[in-house]
Amino acid sequence: MSERIAALAAQLGVSTPQLLAIAAVALPLAAVLLNVAAQVLLPRDPSLPPLVFSYVPVLGSAVTYGMDPYKFFADCRAQHGDLFTFRLLGRNVTVALGAKGSNLIFNGRLNEVSAEEAYTSLTTPVFGKDVVYDVPNAVLMEQKKFVKVGLSTENFRVYVGQITDEVTGFMKGDEGFSAFWRDGKSEAPVDIFKAMCEITILTASRTLQGREVRESLDKSYADLYHDLDGGFTPINFVIPNLPLPANFRRDRAQKLMSDFYRGIIEKRRKEGGDSADHDMIAALMDQSYKNGRKLSDIEIAHIMIALLMAGQHTSSATGSWAMLRLASRPEFIEELYQEQQSVYGDGAGGLRPLDYDTQKSSVPVLDAVVRETLRLHPPIHSIMRKVKSDIVVPAALAAPGADSKKSDSAAYVIPKGHFVMAAPGVSQVDPKIWRDSETFDPNRWLGKGEIEPEEQGETVDYGWGAISSGANSPYLPFGAGR
Ligand code: HEM
Ligand SMILES: *[C@@H]1O[C@H](CO)[C@@H](O)[C@H](O)[C@H]1NC(C)=O
Repeated sequence: MSERIAALAAQLGVSTPQLLAIAAVALPLAAVLLNVAAQVLLPRDPSLPPLVFSYVPVLGSAVTYGMDPYKFFADCRAQHGDLFTFRLLGRNVTVALGAKGSNLIFNGRLNEVSAEEAYTSLTTPVFGKDVVYDVPNAVLMEQKKFVKVGLSTENFRVYVGQITDEVTGFMKGDEGFSAFWRDGKSEAPVDIFKAMCEITILTASRTLQGREVRESLDKSYADLYHDLDGGFTPINFVIPNLPLPANFRRDRAQKLMSDFYRGIIEKRRKEGGDSADHDMIAALMDQSYKNGRKLSDIEIAHIMIALLMAGQHTSSATGSWAMLRLASRPEFIEELYQEQQSVYGDGAGGLRPLDYDTQKSSVPVLDAVVRETLRLHPPIHSIMRKVKSDIVVPAALAAPGADSKKSDSAAYVIPKGHFVMAAPGVSQVDPKIWRDSETFDPNRWLGKGEIEPEEQGETVDYGWGAISSGANSPYLPFGAGR
């Protein structure tokens, strides 16, 4: 081989290293040129959604999308409208924006779209086998019903006191805001994201996860969580098992975490549990599928890991953004304080303890702050499904975006094998829908001039009980309620 290269180099009148250097530049260049030519010169099937141009084959738009997804969506929308396809690491991903786009994806029929086929490569190595996206959708629906048993009003009533307790302890503790707390007016900077991550894990473990998890927090559990979390990285969507140290650590942590939860379950079963336990482990033990089979210990352990991962990032990011937004608008801090005084004030300048029913029904300003935070900063920017059979999209869905070139009557087809992506965060800041869309203004939720997303008559049960089937809303930080 090397002789042939040398011969070729001699023929061309260059040295071997020179030839190799030329090849190193020329081959990728040729690949890029071919990729560009294919997009520019080859006719595109007019029934396919418009294609986002990208230079590099395979990689596609991975870099622009990955660096700033909202900027990427906005640029593509300006050029192509609400429906377009981009290339992402060898895949075709069709983005459907706007309320109708979200509806298409969240309410897609099971024979058309699959969540498990889009997510399992990322989630199963982290959560473990036999749960969530490692099982058919019908089994996930049953597993969510089991979880719902734990998310009861009775449990929530207990959680409010536990959460108060943890947060107060954190504020007084050494790590937390102790300096701030002591003199009440310190202006020392606080790493708010770090603080919210700690508060989230403290409260989640004290309530949903259970006393054994809370007690283990200071020990090895935090390291396990950290290693497991390291498995949640975008590349694992596409290639989940590269022989990387992070993946070895993920797999080791998954096994140890799974063993840890199974140990808790076995111990509780042996000791008969504790009637004071209002956590999810207690709720999941002894539940059965419709066919009579009991939820296994492994399934319980892996559901607990899945809930840990589902709740931790979403809640800590939302809490951090809320604090940052409030810091920029102190008038709302004052409004929140006045609201607390008016519902919890004891008349003597003190406050009685928080309780679930008041939190649920009588703190509209706090509610509005949370809603507004989730409008501007929904923790999940891209929601994906794999397309199982061709989806026909009415042209009306694709056309309303800026200057779509295809506003005629023809429909688009999203072919089987593509992925579809919803991004509700885009319509949550759409200036055509929201007044001063970029401004943090909780008042817009307090009946002061904003249109509330339409309620739809039809209801459907995705496992949490009957809810509105309408995913046809510009505000969907939690997806379609599933
Ligand atoms: C601010 C907090 C949260 C936000 C914004 C949020 C958002 C979302 C979104 C957008 C989805 C849909 C994903 C998809 O359809 O592909 C989802 C799914 C899910 N979330 Fe959350 N989440 C939050 C907190 C939590 C918590 C605390 C838990 C559990 C303790 C949880 C459990 C789940 C589960 C189990 C699913 C999967 C449901 C399914 O596939 O049917 N989430 N979440
Ligand atoms: C992506 O779509 C193109 C048509 O635009 C098709 O030729 C190609 O095979 C698709 N790739 C995958 C991985 O589905």
